[in-house]
Amino acid sequence: MPLLRNVLLCLLPLVPSVLSDSQCKPQPDRCKAVPGTPGWPSPQTWARLNESVSGRLLQPPPPGAVCHAGQPTYNEAACAAVRTAWTSYEFHTDHPISTVWNQWNNHTCLPWDGNPCSSQGYPVFVINATTVDHVKKGVDFARKHNVRLVIKSTGHDYVGRSNAPNSLSIWTHNIKGFETHASFKPKRCSVTIDSTAVTVGAGMQMNDLYGKLDAINQTIVGGGGRSVSVGGYVTGAGHGMLAPHYGLAADQVLEMEIVTPKGDIVTANECQNADLFWAMRGGGGSTFGVMTSVTMKTFPAPQMMHVDFALLASGNNTATRTIFDMVAYVVSQLPSLGDQGLSGYSFFFPLLKGILSLFPLPGVTPDDPAAEVGGFFMSAALMNATAGDMRRIWAPVLAHVNATWPNQFVPILETKSYPSFYAWFQEHYDTTPAGQDGYAVSWLLDAESLTRDLNKNSQAFERFAGGDLGTAFLVSGKGVHNAQPRGGGNAVLPAWRKAYIHATGGVRTIPFNATSAAEARRELAARTEALRQLDPDSGAYMNEASPFLDDWQRAFWGDNYDRLLRIKRTVDPNDVLWCTPCVGSERWEQVGDRLCRVK
Ligand SMILES: Cc1cc2nc3c(=O)[nH]c(=O)nc-3n(C[C@H](O)[C@H](O)[C@H](O)COP(=O)(O)OP(=O)(O)OC[C@H]3O[C@@H](n4cnc5c(N)ncnc54)[C@H](O)[C@@H]3O)c2cc1C
Ligand SMILES: *[C@@H]1O[C@H](CO)[C@@H](O)[C@H](O)[C@H]1NC(C)=O
Ligand SMILES: *[C@@H]1O[C@H](CO)[C@@H](O)[C@H](O)[C@H]1NC(C)=O
Ligand SMILES: *[C@@H]1O[C@H](CO)[C@@H](O)[C@H](O)[C@H]1NC(C)=O
Ligand SMILES: *[C@@H]1O[C@H](CO)[C@@H](O)[C@H](O)[C@H]1NC(C)=O
Ligand SMILES: *[C@@H]1O[C@H](CO)[C@@H](O)[C@H](O)[C@H]1NC(C)=O
Ligand SMILES: *[C@@H]1O[C@H](CO)[C@@H](O)[C@H](O)[C@H]1NC(C)=O
Ligand SMILES: *[C@@H]1O[C@H](CO)[C@@H](O)[C@H](O)[C@H]1NC(C)=O
Ligand SMILES: *[C@@H]1O[C@H](CO)[C@@H](O)[C@H](O)[C@H]1NC(C)=O
Repeated sequence: MPLLRNVLLCLLPLVPSVLSDSQCKPQPDRCKAVPGTPGWPSPQTWARLNESVSGRLLQPPPPGAVCHAGQPTYNEAACAAVRTAWTSYEFHTDHPISTVWNQWNNHTCLPWDGNPCSSQGYPVFVINATTVDHVKKGVDFARKHNVRLVIKSTGHDYVGRSNAPNSLSIWTHNIKGFETHASFKPKRCSVTIDSTAVTVGAGMQMNDLYGKLDAINQTIVGGGGRSVSVGGYVTGAGHGMLAPHYGLAADQVLEMEIVTPKGDIVTANECQNADLFWAMRGGGGSTFGVMTSVTMKTFPAPQMMHVDFALLASGNNTATRTIFDMVAYVVSQLPSLGDQGLSGYSFFFPLLKGILSLFPLPGVTPDDPAAEVGGFFMSAALMNATAGDMRRIWAPVLAHVNATWPNQFVPILETKSYPSFYAWFQEHYDTTPAGQDGYAVSWLLDAESLTRDLNKNSQAFERFAGGDLGTAFLVSGKGVHNAQPRGGGNAVLPAWRKAYIHATGGVRTIPFNATSAAEARRELAARTEALRQLDPDSGAYMNEASPFLDDWQRAFWGDNYDRLLRIKRTVDPNDVLWCTPCVGSERWEQVGDRLCRVK
């Protein structure tokens, strides 16, 4: 019994160091395999995987390696190009292992001078999947060989779920495909759903999908980022401009094709694999299976009446308290504006220098670039409406602000009409830069919490903004509250069904600086807390929240958590898929760069 002997020897506390590491290696199933240990598949085994996926197995060097002398791919011209492209989403989404936010590769190969470079923080192998079968081969291999598995589509993830060290990654970015339907009959269902719909591959990205549907005058409930893919977006919930009208993206799903952790290729809809269908719509990415395609409802493309609305204070004559009192008032009006058809993205901020350069406010150029400006800004739209409609819904808000804080805030209300959602999107997609270090923080707020106590909200929003920008996205509303997802429900955090506002912010960090990392964690907790106290029973949108919440199960899934956990244990009893913070992740922990069972 050599195995038993090793275990016993390793358990003895004072065994002299004559025992080699390999004798004391952890049990094969205690930790996932890592390269350089006997548990890791041999080169021949990897080569067989490569053959089984038609030579599509990659072993890519880190994208930043071209900037580091001594790395095999070192190349100054390529380095210059990588540095230039680093802040663009496309660079990271089109690369097999790059991620949009730097810290998720553990800073092991940033493209800057003086930084270290190794592959440590990246997956070891990647399948450049284009078919369901490639995905299945990857899942089967990881399960059989105890290899840590990750799914990367675009790498946008704010909580770091699309990358891991010592792993095999299935890169779903190149699983495209696009087919529209005048009505849709889910497989093995007798019912035909009387709605236009579209079936797309899991790698399909927002702007491409919007463009293809626009060509037939249709659109979907989609997000504000141009390059986000349907994979993480739909499985996480998916909010956007059309959500207050029609429900979240997860509410539009009619069917999915999924490779399960056991390696089955299944169709999930209201008539078959109903548990999986429920869980994959809101339960989160890379947890219950790999979605290879999704069918969603589509809608007639609306005309967009856009507004840039702002109330700005400049100079030193307005106290921060006054600015946030005004913000608390305007934000309290958003549920009512939402009920009148408005949706969009609002931002609030204390007096800051250079803030106007972030917002393309028509006709507003600060005379003095060093001038400090604080207040409220919203980029929003009404659908199929006139400029008069837009001015009418804001008029009472402007009148109230003018009467309450005379001469304190300069109002701006500029409208612009767009013939379609797609035309609007080309000028109003999310332009925050990629390639940064930092985290998201957020909380969902319902109408009652936004209107109950404006004094309290004023202070809470100021704390939430943290001396910088806070946001109140009006991306939920009646359509989300009254949504009728197929099959009688889905796993979306129940707090969405009452919320109007998804308030988000960002916390930047400095790489290789432990003080900054610790400060960021404290700040994420404090900012979450500032809003949680306004609506304690609500929760946070897992796709855009702090990864470090103590009670993430409840915050991200509320009362759905227990059912999600049961489904996870059934479909993935041995945790072939594991990520954090994800359903069922409690029984593993990351020890250094290894993933091990909790003792
Ligand atoms: C600039 C920007 C704008 C954004 N705007 C919005 C917005 O308007 N609305 C909104 O709701 N969210 C928005 N988000 C958040 C976005 O929804 C999440 O970052 C989401 O996780 C991205 O999904 P992805 O597939 O593009 O990214 P990835 O990082 O590749 O994947 C995210 C997660 O999903 C998993 N996953 C990906 N594909 C699959 C699949 N096929 N099957 C199973 N699991 C999969 C990954 O393993 C990972 O866990 C935005 C993010 C950014 C960076
Ligand atoms: C997989 O096979 C292809 C084609 O034979 C080859 O070009 C590629 O280098 C192989 N991948 C790995 C990781 O060895
Ligand atoms: C991945 O596959 C796609 C589709 O076949 C191909 O165009 C692309 O070049 C591949 N990427 C890499 C890095 O091999
Ligand atoms: C889309 O709408 C435009 C303008 O109304 C119309 O000219 C065009 O024929 C429509 N296209 C389709 C495919 O319906
Ligand atoms: C906008 O108008 C179009 C054309 O009349 C209609 O089909 C669509 O449902 C409307 N959309 C919204 C959100 O009102
Ligand atoms: C704001 O006040 C500070 C000191 O309190 C002063 O240095 C600065 O010049 C003032 N700025 C403006 C625009 O008045
Ligand atoms: C603002 O209030 C003043 C009186 O305090 C009034 O003269 C002015 O017309 C108001 N402006 C707007 C836009 O309501
Ligand atoms: C590290 O971070 C702290 C806190 O943000 C900051 O005060 C300090 O200047 C940083 N140090 C370096 C070397 O960047
Ligand atoms: C990140 O890198 C540090 C060394 O800088 C290492 O100790 C740690 O284990 C790494 N973590 C992960 C998750 O790879």
